[in-house]
Amino acid sequence: MSSAPAPLIAIYPGTFDPLTAGHLDLIARASKFVETLIVGILRNESKQPLFSVEERMEMVQEAVDQYANVRVACFDGLLVEFAAEQRARLIIRGIRAVSDYEYELQMALMNRRLRPEIETVFMMASEAYSFISSRLVKEVIKLGGDIQGLVPPCVEQRLRARLRTARTLHA
Ligand code: PNS
Repeated sequence: MSSAPAPLIAIYPGTFDPLTAGHLDLIARASKFVETLIVGILRNESKQPLFSVEERMEMVQEAVDQYANVRVACFDGLLVEFAAEQRARLIIRGIRAVSDYEYELQMALMNRRLRPEIETVFMMASEAYSFISSRLVKEVIKLGGDIQGLVPPCVEQRLRARLRTARTLHA
């Protein structure tokens, strides 16, 4: 008699500086076909993120509270090693346009070379969100544009608060 397969755990990794509506849409869809989805936030101090890893974790946690099988964690170092520690068999990455594909393919092949037992799955972004990136959201809000609907409300609040602090500091 064959034993039941191990529960399917997946990592959805990224910088999430900050989480966007596109990221959240992908989390919602991916959480439906795995037992556990771990949103893995890269600490990434060298990129000088707008939000600390603790702030990014809080925002993601608030946004994913509604999904019982989604957890949030942060990592340093190699993604595949983090995935192995978490007993994840899948890495999930979102693809918005053909331009994302080359970089994603390179990463997926490198990750396979490092840990062949961990599979990367690409998910297409929903059309409604395919133009959104964390970088553009930060640029638009900084220049006074409307970002409503591009990020979850808890993220929009934090972005506005961060902007106010920055303006006070530079006044
Ligand atoms: O949100 P991003 O910037 O597209 O996420 C990129 C991320 C975090 C998935 C990638 O930079 C990563 O996996 N970094 C961890 C270091 C690592 O494993 N590097 C080798 C990847 S081939």
